[in-house]
Amino acid sequence: MHTPKDNQKRTLDRVLSKFGVGSRTEARSWIGAGRVTVNGKKVQTPDVWIDPENDRVELDGRPLTARQKQYILLYKPKGYLTTYKDPEGRPTVYDLLTTVKDFVFPVGRLDQDTTGLLILTNDSAFGDHITSPESKVPKTYLVKASILLDDAQLDQLRHGLTLADGPTRPALVKRIRDSAKYSFFEITITEGRNRQVRRMVEALGAKVLKLVRTAIGGIEIGSLEIGKYRALTAEERLALGGMSKKPSRPGRPGVRPDRPQDQQAAAPRRNGKLARWAGGNRRRGHNESARKP
Ligand code: URA
Repeated sequence: MHTPKDNQKRTLDRVLSKFGVGSRTEARSWIGAGRVTVNGKKVQTPDVWIDPENDRVELDGRPLTARQKQYILLYKPKGYLTTYKDPEGRPTVYDLLTTVKDFVFPVGRLDQDTTGLLILTNDSAFGDHITSPESKVPKTYLVKASILLDDAQLDQLRHGLTLADGPTRPALVKRIRDSAKYSFFEITITEGRNRQVRRMVEALGAKVLKLVRTAIGGIEIGSLEIGKYRALTAEERLALGGMSKKPSRPGRPGVRPDRPQDQQAAAPRRNGKLARWAGGNRRRGHNESARKP
C-alpha cells in the first residue's frame, strides 16, 4: 500500500469505483463489511491510499481488473437525480441507463429540475478534466427567467457577479427572445459550481423557471431525445479532452467566454422541441451580442 505522495494514489473506495464495480458509497460498505483485500490483507478503511497499478485489490476473493472505458451522453429529463441511489426513492439517471452494465459516474451534476446533457463515464481522469475549473470546458444552458431582464442585467452575467462562494468568471450571454413576462437567454460558463446558473440569475433578483444544458464543449444536444443516451464518439472525446488537433465542429469546442471574438459565437444547434421552446417570436433590436468581458 502507498502513501498519498505516490503518483497513482487513489483511495480504496475510489479505486473500486474506478474499476467500474459500483459507486463509492457501495464500495465503502463492501470495505466496511470486510469483503475487500489489498495485497492479500483485509482492509476495512475506505480512505487508505492505493496504487491501482501495483496493488492487488480483490473483492470477495476475485481480483479486480480495469473495465473497458465507457463514455455516455444522456439527455437528462426533469425530475431525475444524478445521484446513484435516492433514499426517498425518486428516479435517478441510472434508471435510464438500461443497457449500461459497468458503473459510470456523472461528470458534474445537474439539479433535479435541470434537463439536458449529462456525461457519464468510468474514466476518472476524463471526468476530472471536464469538471476542473482550470480546463475551462464551456457548458451552455438555455434559461427561462421569471421576469424580463434588461440589457444591463445580462451584462452583469457577462462580466461576472459575486456569489456567496466568490466572483463568477466572464460568461457568454445571448438573449434569445422576450415574451410578455419572461426573458429567454443562453449562457455559456466555464465553471461548474453548485447551482451556479440559478444563483447567478437569483443575484439579479429573478428566478430560473426552466434550465436546459444544451452543450458541453463542442458536444451539442442535436437530435438526442429526452431520456435517451448514446456513446460519445472518439472524436468527441478527444475534443472534450483538449487533445484533438482537428475538432469535430470547428469553432464550437474552442468557444471561450473570456475571448471577445467568442461573444459573437453562434448558438448551438437545438433539437426541434428546444427550438420551439427558445425560438418563439424573435424580437429584433435586442442586445444579442455580448459586451467585452
Ligand atoms: N447551474 C444550475 O444552476 N443548475 C444546474 O443543474 C447546472 C448549472
